[in-house]
Amino acid sequence: MKVLTTLKASVAVLALTAAGAHAQGVEVLHWWTSGGEAAALNVLKGDLETQGIGWTDMPVAGGGGSDAMTVLRARVTAGDPPTAVQMLGFSIQDWAGEGALANLNDLAAEQGWDAVVPAALQGFSKHDGNWVSAPVNVHSTNWVWANTAIMAELGIEQPTSWEEFVAAMEAAEAAGYVALAHGGQAWQDATIFDSIAMGVGGPEFYQAAFIDLDPEALGGAQMVEAFQRMETLRGFVDDNFSGRDWNLASAMVANGEALFQIMGDWAKGEFINAGQTAGVEFQCFRVPGSEGTVTFNSDQFAMFNVTDEAAMASQQTMASSVMSPEFQVAFNTVKGSVPARTDISDEAFDACGKLGMAQLAEASASGTLFGSMAHGHANPPAVQNAMYDVITAHFNGEFDAETAAAEMVTAVELAQ
Ligand code: BGC
Repeated sequence: MKVLTTLKASVAVLALTAAGAHAQGVEVLHWWTSGGEAAALNVLKGDLETQGIGWTDMPVAGGGGSDAMTVLRARVTAGDPPTAVQMLGFSIQDWAGEGALANLNDLAAEQGWDAVVPAALQGFSKHDGNWVSAPVNVHSTNWVWANTAIMAELGIEQPTSWEEFVAAMEAAEAAGYVALAHGGQAWQDATIFDSIAMGVGGPEFYQAAFIDLDPEALGGAQMVEAFQRMETLRGFVDDNFSGRDWNLASAMVANGEALFQIMGDWAKGEFINAGQTAGVEFQCFRVPGSEGTVTFNSDQFAMFNVTDEAAMASQQTMASSVMSPEFQVAFNTVKGSVPARTDISDEAFDACGKLGMAQLAEASASGTLFGSMAHGHANPPAVQNAMYDVITAHFNGEFDAETAAAEMVTAVELAQ
């Protein structure tokens, strides 16, 4: 009976497709606006084009997607949702809870998504047991990107402790380089904080503070130490860091202006886009202290409820494309991320991609894989934004470390 229902549904999907109902295509809201991101997006556009699906672009710049989510809310409130939206973790759950997302169960059943999408991702892709979004990738946030030539010139080995990491930055600064390329935007400050907190307190602390929102962890000694490390990092950024976009910070490492950047592996997309190769012009390694753990986020495409049958058919085709093994390789090798399916070989991936895939699998098996706070996978948007505010205020010198930790407790309490 179940098989029959699934079969009927896929016949219906095929019928819509066959009816040439794709003229309308998809309108896609996303925040992939940097050079590397646009290159990856083109893989998706091209893929859909070959299937006759038109593409209307709705880009909203701003890493982490906060601005994109504001625009999305306005569009939905105006009764005009985009057909497909790039979305992260808890936001998917929020929108699904509002009943705004299309159901992808039939397609998922037909293509066996349950068997190939890791459980950690399914927790965000499914709502009340129903598939509501198609995961494109897995990114992780606790990476350092390093300029190989500067490391060689200064005799810097890959740092394996916080002390070595700081010593390397001191050496770079003394030699006239920018030690840490960074852009002073709330989401970038939070991205750094993610891995610094993990480095200080390890998995237990990360779980307690960012996922369980335990006030003792939020306001405790390890949180204070994480903020103190942020002060150390603040001392290594250049004078022009304020407001700088993350991809410009990546360019500083690529150009040999800066030694390190702490950033998610979308930064790799920028190095690749600049014609560089992992392990040659640039290096990747986990933020010292956070080795053995992975803080992840997954870009997913959520399909909004639309009534037009042509648009509905295009949504199904887009979701199907996104989930195909060929697309997962073609897209993620350009984007810097790794596949959202567990059944894909790492053969086509570069050194950092291979490392990322292996570490993701290890972390998943050993219970050290955590949703990223900075990228919407640890707690709901209201709490995430409250944390952003405190982290950024502290980074800009408004609070000392003790006050910041106390503010985390208050801000999180108010946001819940
Ligand atoms: C997204 C990435 C994106 C990055 C910077 C993250 O939240 O998951 O896909 O490249 O923001 O824009």
